[in-house]
Amino acid sequence: MIELGPALHTGYTEIDNQHQRLFDLFNQLKTPASERAELLPTSQVLQQISEYIDAHFSFEEQWMREVGYPDYDAHQREHAAFVEQNLQFLREYHFGGSLTEEDIARYLERWLVQHISGTDMKVVQYLQSSD
Ligand SMILES: [Fe+2]
Ligand SMILES: [Fe+2]
Repeated sequence: MIELGPALHTGYTEIDNQHQRLFDLFNQLKTPASERAELLPTSQVLQQISEYIDAHFSFEEQWMREVGYPDYDAHQREHAAFVEQNLQFLREYHFGGSLTEEDIARYLERWLVQHISGTDMKVVQYLQSSD
């Protein structure tokens, strides 16, 4: 269970809430389907994750454009690569590949932790230094 500790805290409430929501969805994926709070089948949880990731990235990209973030392109490319990876997981899962929910959840979680603490935090540092 991932909590948003200091290293993952941007201090921007909407962004932090969206990150927390993503971690909650990953936790759902790790929970057996019969024990899930929302009792959704795995394919639907994966679908929700995909949609929520798209929404979060759009929101964040809009935010970066508004503040004129200079490293926008590199950040946006990281988002796009992750979306692509995610689609691959969806396809593989759909076609009965060897990945378990647990594998997918762990990968997503690890990626998001690294992305927030590295790439998202750079936006925060930029904003703090330009205040
Ligand atoms: Fe990001
Ligand atoms: Fe983010």
